Amino acid sequence: MTRSGLPRLGQRLRAPDPGWFESTDVVVVGSGIAGLAVALHLREAGLHVTVVTKVNTDDGSTRWAQGGIAAVLDPTDSVERHAHDTMVAGAGLCDPVAVDLLVREGPGRVRELMRWGAGFDRAADGGLLLTREGGHHANRVVHAGGDATGAEIQRALHTAVCRDPWIRLFEHSLAIDLLQDAEGRACGVTLHVLGEGTPDGVGAVLARAVVLASGGMGQVYAATTNPVVSTGDGVALALRAGAAVTDVEFVQFHPTALLVDGPPGTARPSLACATQQPLVSEALRGEGGYLRDDDGRRFMVGLHELAELAPRDVVAKASHRVMRAAGTRNVWLDARHLGATFLAGRFPTIVASCLAAGIDPAKDLIPVAPAAHYASGGVRTDRRGRTTIPGLYACGEVACTGVHGANRLASNSLLEGLVFARRIADDVAGTLPGQCDPINLGATGGWALDPTLRPRLQQAMSQGAGVLRGGDSLGETLATVAALAGREAPADTASWETANLVTVAAALLAAALRREETRGSHWREDFPDARDDWRGHLMIRIDRAGTLAETWEPL
Ligand code: SIN
Repeated sequence: MTRSGLPRLGQRLRAPDPGWFESTDVVVVGSGIAGLAVALHLREAGLHVTVVTKVNTDDGSTRWAQGGIAAVLDPTDSVERHAHDTMVAGAGLCDPVAVDLLVREGPGRVRELMRWGAGFDRAADGGLLLTREGGHHANRVVHAGGDATGAEIQRALHTAVCRDPWIRLFEHSLAIDLLQDAEGRACGVTLHVLGEGTPDGVGAVLARAVVLASGGMGQVYAATTNPVVSTGDGVALALRAGAAVTDVEFVQFHPTALLVDGPPGTARPSLACATQQPLVSEALRGEGGYLRDDDGRRFMVGLHELAELAPRDVVAKASHRVMRAAGTRNVWLDARHLGATFLAGRFPTIVASCLAAGIDPAKDLIPVAPAAHYASGGVRTDRRGRTTIPGLYACGEVACTGVHGANRLASNSLLEGLVFARRIADDVAGTLPGQCDPINLGATGGWALDPTLRPRLQQAMSQGAGVLRGGDSLGETLATVAALAGREAPADTASWETANLVTVAAALLAAALRREETRGSHWREDFPDARDDWRGHLMIRIDRAGTLAETWEPL
């Protein structure tokens, strides 16, 4: 432990030396919308691409996205209005230039996605159906299969990738650490492959550039909408390599995760994984659903001009207050007035999740509660997706491009993945160096942590660093995390993931403790107001001693 109570963190994972090697132009870590879109763009530029993904290609968060993709596709809407809504949700911390390019380039990227084969819901006249979600002042969210947008995007991108023989796909492959040359430039990754007929065990993919697109870190909490693969692997890998991460204290809690204790199909797969709570899309409120307290009162009315469609942090906080005052575990989403036929057609996924839990949304109130949903921060990038390490890029939820600020606007994340995938591919194609020689192949040391302790970590994070946090609760959580950081275990996928979770938890806690104000999705009960002197970003790195070091970047 360091003097400030922060644990000393491993600077590499403990793993055997690579037993096999492959070379490629670009290695992409992750296979959701960001990773697959980068891969397809890089192929259009004529480059050879290797995609590495931890389990199956469609096991990440993209597949679970319900609401859709926000983009200005209606002539009565405007990019200025989309930018404005994004900046308001971001609570003063968005990068206006990054937001401007997001909203301007977004519509073109969504059309490109359609050319790659994604089919969105359309009206009888063939026009795209657009819906609304929290924080939006216009209908600008395209969707597919009603509430199965992510599944359609994942299907289309996967199909396109599989058609291209120059995209090599490694499934069941955990990226372990970044390979770097003598100047620190990224030149590949070590990875562990559970292979059948492919290279097996620990190997190395040598590359001229590396793109992290490995998704989020929701599994650091006990209650999350994220799938079990979201263990912060990309942020942890980047930190170990010396990259800066930023805004990691801004974890978005989705206000309406279905509160169930392990419904069929979402049962806890192992003790080491948090239950993935089924999402009840904000689009359900966009189509007219209400939030009610135990007395049936619509508690959002009068609290915000958009009532149930206020930005997510506002709704999550209001729900939390209602639950705390009443001593309950949930509030209620009321969709009964929308009717069984409409609900079944527009929200088939949600209706199925509810029915599996014994709830008929056409007749019953739906129990919902906030759950960890999205990391607004991540590996710091510029507007071309470059991280602070040459040759290392980050795209999608793993990245912090500056578009989300302190709280992401609903349905801007799939859009961000698309927009920055194209920017990264353009930059890589224009600047690719020759192959470089890694100097950290086969280094000794490193860490791997006891996976049976994961539930303790997740419970501590949910209790002490959740929707509501304070100096005391964050300090206690940090002490728990520091204790877990000392529990070494034999090296395998579960213990590497646990080391990654501890790393991202420590970074999140360090930033959350330091930011003594309430802003966006960071709600400090001991500092209940936003403060002008906190308008800026906390950059976190692991220094050479394995200690987390913060630097402050004012706006
Ligand atoms: C939702 O459908 O409510 C989630 C959309 C998002 O996270 O952007």
